[in-house]
Amino acid sequence: MSGMRLPKQVRIVEVGPRDGLQNEKILVPSEVKIALIDRLSAAGLQSIEATSFVSPRWVPQMADAAEVLAGISRKAGVSYPVLTPNLKGFEAALEAGAQEVAVFGAASESFSQKNINCSVAESLERFAPVARAALEQGLKVRGYISCVLGCPYEGQIAPEAVADVALRLHEMGCYEISLGDTIGVGTPLKVRRMIEAVAAQVPTERLAVHFHDTYGQALANILAALELGVAVVDSSVAGLGGCPYARRGQRRPALHARRHGHRNRRRPAGAHRRRALHQRFPRPLLGLQGLPGLGLWGVTIRFTTKSLKMS
Ligand code: HMG
Ligand code: MG
Repeated sequence: MSGMRLPKQVRIVEVGPRDGLQNEKILVPSEVKIALIDRLSAAGLQSIEATSFVSPRWVPQMADAAEVLAGISRKAGVSYPVLTPNLKGFEAALEAGAQEVAVFGAASESFSQKNINCSVAESLERFAPVARAALEQGLKVRGYISCVLGCPYEGQIAPEAVADVALRLHEMGCYEISLGDTIGVGTPLKVRRMIEAVAAQVPTERLAVHFHDTYGQALANILAALELGVAVVDSSVAGLGGCPYARRGQRRPALHARRHGHRNRRRPAGAHRRRALHQRFPRPLLGLQGLPGLGLWGVTIRFTTKSLKMS
């Protein structure tokens, strides 16, 4: 590990109740979602993304956002951010008692259209009043950028495109910008190039990474981000998750598997497909059951009451 400039402390933002469950086909009962969130807070997590105030036509699984937020036992010192794509979602979130919201854009035009039905520029115009209203009401605002390392519809994404969106979100007042590898096609070198471009526009301490593990690259990609000083990592309990509007990328697993020199080449094609169908986050980051220390690239992450510490 010598020579690495790893952060002394890493904050985990657990997004499983939102990113994990949004991709489940079968409707999960609200009480199960509530119990999951309460168990995550009991496990010591301090940022737990609880749900999304999005259109129930677009994501039926999140239609019970207000019930979920009303049902959880809020623990002191824990934040429960929720996704809000527009003012309608923000107002509903505010009414439901949200104290932190997140706007979610993309570095890819096509993905933006598929996911939130507008261009990147239009999305930023929509987010600005959401951020303004949130800040006026004393709420914190997080920003997401999807497809920072590749898009299921457009392929390569220029690091500069990510940096442009990051700067806009930063200027809007987002306290943190989470860089999403939505379909898990990143590699450590791509991560390095992308984060260097973004960090030229936005201070590194404002950045988080949100790396889906579709092709088993997420841990290596997270390490590359940590080496550049990023100290906030999104995780998803049990490796659940994915964006329902990134499906096209998921239908081409064999192509990506080959490009990534996939380790599981001898598995039957169906296994690749099943794996890709669940855009998983790195599994080892946490478990539902409790607070074990865990090894990550020879670095030990220990749960403390305040945060995760690495040594
Ligand atoms: P739209 O159809 O263009 O919206 O959807 P609209 O403004 O034209 O309104 C159409 C209807 O939707 C109206 O109802 C609105 O009231 C309603 P009607 O008059 O027809 O009865 N509506 C809403 N209802 C509830 N809540 C709202 C809302 N807004 C409008 N907030 C919209 C635009 C953004 C709403 C839609 O595209 C949407 O909800 N998209 C969300 C998609 C989504 O949640 N994707 C997954 C999350 S992003 C992700 O997973 C990536 C991330 O993890 C990072 C990564 O991995 O990269 C964050
Ligand atoms: Mg995601």
